[in-house]
Amino acid sequence: MSRPEIRVQDLHKSFGDNHVLRGIDLEIGQGEVVCVIGPSGSGKSTLLRCVNLLEEPTKGQVFVGGTEITDPDVDIDAVRRRIGMVFQQFNLFPHLNVTENLTLPQRRVLRRDKAEAAKIAAENLARVGLSEKADAYPSSLSGGQQQRVAIARALAMGPEVMLFDEPTSALDPELVGDVLAVMRRLATEGMTMMVVTHEMTFAREVADRVVFMDGGVIVEEGSPDQVIGSPRHERTRHFLSRLLDPAMAEVEEETSDQVGKSES
Ligand SMILES: Nc1ncnc2c1ncn2[C@@H]1O[C@H](COP(=O)(O)OP(=O)(O)OP(=O)(O)O)[C@@H](O)[C@H]1O
Ligand SMILES: [Mg+2]
Repeated sequence: MSRPEIRVQDLHKSFGDNHVLRGIDLEIGQGEVVCVIGPSGSGKSTLLRCVNLLEEPTKGQVFVGGTEITDPDVDIDAVRRRIGMVFQQFNLFPHLNVTENLTLPQRRVLRRDKAEAAKIAAENLARVGLSEKADAYPSSLSGGQQQRVAIARALAMGPEVMLFDEPTSALDPELVGDVLAVMRRLATEGMTMMVVTHEMTFAREVADRVVFMDGGVIVEEGSPDQVIGSPRHERTRHFLSRLLDPAMAEVEEETSDQVGKSES
């Protein structure tokens, strides 16, 4: 692996009595794309949010580009500037047009002047294929277009790494492809990416590594072919069989001795 861009060491996170992350160790190299998969409630979002300091870890360390961001003395705003985050919900400002949505955080957070912010906004809109929507308002855009604007907004801040939390889950199926295409392109441009997703085709094609989480731990990780194609662990097999064929999963629930024997 190249120099780790993200390093997570013995990370724990509890919400009250709920011990959600139970010792996560993970390294992501520069330019590497890691997809995180796992059942609902397994702690995927919490992990991403700890990497971005949206949540404060209970224990453990997180390093980004060699800086320990869990150091109490760290400048949290400076850290967040280096990490782009894209959520399931796009959170665009409805009263601002697309360009203004991209320039506002650059001006407020990075103190860029108006002309520079506009230039960088235009470059990043082009990157996501939405130059023609520069003056449009979010409400006039499809969900997929809004999500691409949200990606461009994150990119305009010049992040070193991008975190995606189920970026296509809120989209109609026919809109998913355009967003995944933008992410695929980012990956080929060498962006370091951590992507929580249920899109197994995307994970197989784009991820350098797939991490399967369950119950707040990493159960297994490896190449997409290994983890998705021939998982080593029963829990991974069970999760994948449910995802690929929910009806089959129900049958498996009833005859639990059959679990895991049905994968292709
Ligand atoms: N801010 C919070 N306060 C209290 N509990 C939380 C908070 N955020 C998450 N949790 C709890 O942490 C656990 C893991 O949640 P998390 O959102 O990380 O799971 P997930 O793997 O992302 O699930 P999903 O696939 O449904 O998005 C859940 O039990 C959830 O209720
Ligand atoms: Mg989640």
